[in-house]
Amino acid sequence: MIAPRVLIPRDEIKKTVLRLAREIRRDLSGTNPLFICILKGSVVFAADLVRAVNMPLELDFLCLSSYGCGTETSGRVKMRLGIRQSLVGRHVVVLEDIVDTGLTVNYLMAYLKRKRPAGLRLCALLDKPSRRRVPVDIDYLGLTVPDRFIVGYGIDWNQNYRYLPDICYIEDEGNG
Ligand code: IMP
Repeated sequence: MIAPRVLIPRDEIKKTVLRLAREIRRDLSGTNPLFICILKGSVVFAADLVRAVNMPLELDFLCLSSYGCGTETSGRVKMRLGIRQSLVGRHVVVLEDIVDTGLTVNYLMAYLKRKRPAGLRLCALLDKPSRRRVPVDIDYLGLTVPDRFIVGYGIDWNQNYRYLPDICYIEDEGNG
């Protein structure tokens, strides 16, 4: 691996988060929505987004994992921490860092739908559509990224690089 290179600088991340916040506020103000942050990669994004939305809302966390220690998804999604509160009648917004193959979000949205929320929307900071294996509807999309391994702004490679303030990419030496 080589040192991460900047793909999306912090100013652009900030503008994107503000735009997403405006869209969510326009659609959901007055509904006391429940934002569900997917651990761990979405924590930094969620922390910025809830403050940018700046209206009454609740925040909960859910932990899934499909990656081992590499850069390829294992294809099997595991629930490590589920939602314990009732979602009946709630407007739910799922906050996801990256939609890649779509397997994680697909599994997650089906799990949450069974809890009968009044509304269920997906807000993804990044989308890597070139790698999609199952279709995914993203209600609020930040930015589309190329097929690179992304790190920074909360997103990790093998638990590293989450602290980087910009969205970066890493690649194997020899792949350029
Ligand atoms: P999917 O199930 O393939 O769509 O993957 C979704 C999850 O895999 C995301 O929530 C991330 O946690 C992780 N992921 C996907 N692409 C990347 C990447 O480029 N860097 C780091 N994590 C990624």
